[in-house]
Amino acid sequence: MTKPIIYITRKIPVELLKPYEDRYDFRMWPESETPVPREILRREAREADGVLCMLTEKIDEAFLSENAHLQIIANMAVGYDNINVEAANRKGIWVTNTPDVLTETTADLTFALLMATARRVTEASDYIKEDRWKNWSPFLLAGSDIHHKTIGIVGMGRIGKAVAKRATGFNMSILYHNRTRKHQAEKEVGVTYVPFETLLDESDYVISLVPLTKETKHLFNEAAFQKMKESAIFINVSRGGTMDEIALYEALQSGEIKAAGLDVFEEEPISSDHPLLKLDNTVCLPHIGSSSMKTRSQMITLCLDNIDAVLQGQQPKTPVRIE
Ligand code: DGY
Repeated sequence: MTKPIIYITRKIPVELLKPYEDRYDFRMWPESETPVPREILRREAREADGVLCMLTEKIDEAFLSENAHLQIIANMAVGYDNINVEAANRKGIWVTNTPDVLTETTADLTFALLMATARRVTEASDYIKEDRWKNWSPFLLAGSDIHHKTIGIVGMGRIGKAVAKRATGFNMSILYHNRTRKHQAEKEVGVTYVPFETLLDESDYVISLVPLTKETKHLFNEAAFQKMKESAIFINVSRGGTMDEIALYEALQSGEIKAAGLDVFEEEPISSDHPLLKLDNTVCLPHIGSSSMKTRSQMITLCLDNIDAVLQGQQPKTPVRIE
C-alpha cells in the first residue's frame, strides 16, 4: 500500500522521523542551512499530502491554490506570518505552529540579549580580542543596570509572560501592552497594563514580543523611538517587520535611544555590511530565539505529531485559525 507523502523543507535529523516512518513516505530538502528553492517546493508539494515547512518558506495564496490538495502545512515556528492562514483555512488545509515548546527557551534568549546589550557584553569581548585592553579604568565599558529598572513588554503572550517572570528575579518593575488585558499574568506575575505610549515613555527596556500582523507592521517607528527615553534599550525577538529598521538606525545613531538588541530583521538573513552591524550600541543575533538542541527537536516533533493527527483524521494539537 502506498503511504502518504510528507515533504520536509529542510534537512532535519532522521532519528526524529523514526516513530512515524512506518506510516509515511518522508521526502526532504537535503540541505540544513539553505532553504528549498520555491520551484522545488512547488514540485514536491504537488505530490505531497502534508508539508513541514520553516519560517523561510512563503506559503502564499498562489502556492496554496496550486496545492489545494494538501491536508496540512505544519510550520516549525510559533510565528506564522510566512503563511496566508486565511487562504489555507478557506481551502480546508490545516495550518499548525509550535507554541509552548519554545516558550522558556525564547524567553531565555530574550533575557540574554537584554543583558548582553545593557552590559555591552559583545563589545567588551571584542575589546579584548582586538587587543585594546591595556588597563583597568573606572568607567571602562560601563553599561546600564538591569536590576530595579522598568521593563516594558509589548505582547504579553506565553513568551511575554515567561520574560516577565525572569524580570521579577531582577526586581524590575514590569509594564506591558497587549491587544487584550492579561488578568492572569497581572495576578500571577505582577505585571501592569499600560497604553502603548505610556510604556514607551516609562520603560528602560522596551521588548518587542508581538506577532507580525498588518496592525503591528512598523509598530516601532520613528514616533515610537522618539517617545522612548534617551537611556532606553530596545530588544526585538519577535519579527523584524514590527520595527522600521531605518528609523531604528537613526534613533541609535542620533542618541535618541541608547542601544538595541536584535534577534530578528526586516529581511533575513542580513549580511556583514548591514548598517546596524556598524553600530557599537547594537547587539545582533541571527534569529536564534528558540534555538536550543532540545527545543528545536521538540518543535520538529510537534510538527510531526500535528501532521500525523491530521493524516489519521484527527484534530492537530496546535492548529492556527484566523477567525
Ligand atoms: C518562531 O518560532 O516564530 C521563532 O521565531 C523561530 O525561532
